[in-house]
Amino acid sequence: SSLLRKEVEQTYIMIKPDGVQRGLVGEIISRFEKKGFLLKGLKLFQCPKDLAQEHYKDLKERPFFPNLIDYITSGPVVCMAWEGDGVVASARKLIGATNPLQAEPGTIRGDLAVQTGRNVVHGSDSPDNGKREIGKFCQWRI
Ligand code: PPS
Repeated sequence: SSLLRKEVEQTYIMIKPDGVQRGLVGEIISRFEKKGFLLKGLKLFQCPKDLAQEHYKDLKERPFFPNLIDYITSGPVVCMAWEGDGVVASARKLIGATNPLQAEPGTIRGDLAVQTGRNVVHGSDSPDNGKREIGKFCQWRI
């Protein structure tokens, strides 16, 4: 990045193990592609427990934390870096509310999920976290 040029915005999107197991990978990627964002990196990955704990470290005092770690490490996830102006907030809109029963129809969770503990996809909540999470999960990206 230079001092004059605004850095391109990127977000970390992760299809969780239930999304992979249910065969929703193509459907989920398709929604970001159709919206018009740019796929910059993608990998199928078995998340180790220590990385899952680090990723969700702000939630470690929450009662659901052990379940969340078991869930995320229960099978392969799809790690993706997506790029575009406003991609962080827009991806969160495409994904929908954390609780799929509160997520609007037309969103990924609103259309494809029912349980918070099985909500098929993660998206970064800020550009800084997007950069940080891509750094942790997508070191292989070009
Ligand atoms: S909070 O309360 O605002 O801090 O939480 P929120 O941002 O809504 O969610 C943070 C992540 O925790 C996941 N979550 C859960 N997982 C399993 N069970 C329960 N009950 C639960 N509640 C919240 C939620 O999906 C968020 O993870 P990501 O991967 O970002 O979706």
